[in-house]
Amino acid sequence: MDVAASRDRMDCVRFLDAASSQQTNQNPKKVANLKKEAIKEAEKGIQLCEKVKKKHQSKMDKMQHRADNTGSVSEASMASAFSKGGTMSGINEQFSKLIAADKSGSLTARVKGTLQKNRPQNQSVPSRGQNPDSSLSLSTRRELYERDFPVYKQPVEVGCFSLDSERRFFNDGRQMRYYVEPDRSPNFDLRDGYKDRFIKRDDSVKEKLDHMLRWILANRSKLSARGTTASSCDLDIDFVTWRGHLTKLLTAPYETREGWQLAVTRFRGTLYISEVETEAARRDQENRTERHEEMMYWGYKFEQYTCADTVHGQPDPGGVLNTNEAFCTVVQTRLADHRLLFSGEVDCRDKDPNAPAAPACYIELKTSAEICTPKQRSNFHRFKLLKWWAQSFLPGVPRVVAGFRDEEGVVVAMETFPISKISHLIKNEHNCWKPTVCMNFCSDFLSFVKHIATEDNPSVVYLLSWEPRRDVTFSVHRDSPYCFLPHWFVEEMTSSQPSHQS
Ligand code: A3P
Ligand code: MG
Repeated sequence: MDVAASRDRMDCVRFLDAASSQQTNQNPKKVANLKKEAIKEAEKGIQLCEKVKKKHQSKMDKMQHRADNTGSVSEASMASAFSKGGTMSGINEQFSKLIAADKSGSLTARVKGTLQKNRPQNQSVPSRGQNPDSSLSLSTRRELYERDFPVYKQPVEVGCFSLDSERRFFNDGRQMRYYVEPDRSPNFDLRDGYKDRFIKRDDSVKEKLDHMLRWILANRSKLSARGTTASSCDLDIDFVTWRGHLTKLLTAPYETREGWQLAVTRFRGTLYISEVETEAARRDQENRTERHEEMMYWGYKFEQYTCADTVHGQPDPGGVLNTNEAFCTVVQTRLADHRLLFSGEVDCRDKDPNAPAAPACYIELKTSAEICTPKQRSNFHRFKLLKWWAQSFLPGVPRVVAGFRDEEGVVVAMETFPISKISHLIKNEHNCWKPTVCMNFCSDFLSFVKHIATEDNPSVVYLLSWEPRRDVTFSVHRDSPYCFLPHWFVEEMTSSQPSHQS
């Protein structure tokens, strides 16, 4: 039922729900016994899990102890870096605490590290040009990340860019849209225009990080380290990536269906992360049903009903919908000791001239199947809100406006979800997702990347691969089709000083 709900297959949810009620009515004793057994099994599982956690911690302690004794820069000491995460100190930086409003992680014992290793432990950190030990892996088990919420600095918008109807890049906000609040029950028909007024972006064109890289070249002076060293023209940033890639990292400890592959290249001290389409994702895309294709349009159609192109304008649902067009924010922030620069598409902004500065004035629009039963509500909390929270929390977008639709694609209700309230909403769900687990996993993943991706070379790719219920593993590729930093970027970054744009 959970899986069906997470895929918006309400027909299946209803069928299973009815079957379950029927069984409860017909065989109440049998159902009660099965429930008892299931609870016993779950309790056993919890005990086992506690044991695994203790074992893991003791292993990490031992690694730490060995590192302390040898005094060398070993993987063991790197492992301790994985436990550095963040503390609840640094009140000024506690955007994390404000917007995530999550305390669930602070109750559990701090887990020392999350690095897994199958080989002898006192191995040196790989040096330049030497491949790192590929037996290193990183666990995604939730319980390993239940510790204090890491420092997450308030994201600051350092710029924006737009992509026009032909996917051309502009270093400005020309594609910004303004939210126009609809009725509480607006009856928007999301199917309208699918057949005759829809231009769909060609998703077989893999744009990788190209738009972000264009933005970086145009805004280099804003990002360069100040100082007089030879490397002063390098970016003052550890990681460059898309927000969507980070969302996948945040949700990985709870993801049970879709794996991912992330290509990483270290270039002039900065780590660039770009997604690689997995075989499974390619197959899914090829085998999409017509109904699924149409439902993907519904989310964009909802945006067209609720957004105007100008601050005093009105939405134009009769116009052509072109999914090439996009407005993207570029934000800078820090997660634990990782300085991040990432970009994400923004649906629209509050049109009130007194609204706070970006990204606090931005609004994320979402559609979802209407909620008719407690089970559906619970599934919405467990699956949808996790994705919504992760996507908006990262760039500091404070609210999601949701349109709930019936099976015919008609929006029957509206609701606003402040991001800071989402962790309260899910509080009563048993064994639900926790913001602290998401953020700690992401932080440890980035530490892992820093540790393995040591060679600074635009033609070397470290490919990090993950499948649900497995550890994150990696492989190293030189001059391969995985290379994703384009020549125009590498050359411009290598040959010239940043042009001083305002
Ligand atoms: P919904 O999220 O309301 O379904 P976003 O909400 O991230 O701005 O994306 C806008 C819309 O793009 C989505 O609206 C959905 O229609 C479509 N979309 C985005 N990512 C998708 C994905 N991975 N699979 C299917 N549809 C997607
Ligand atoms: Mg949206």
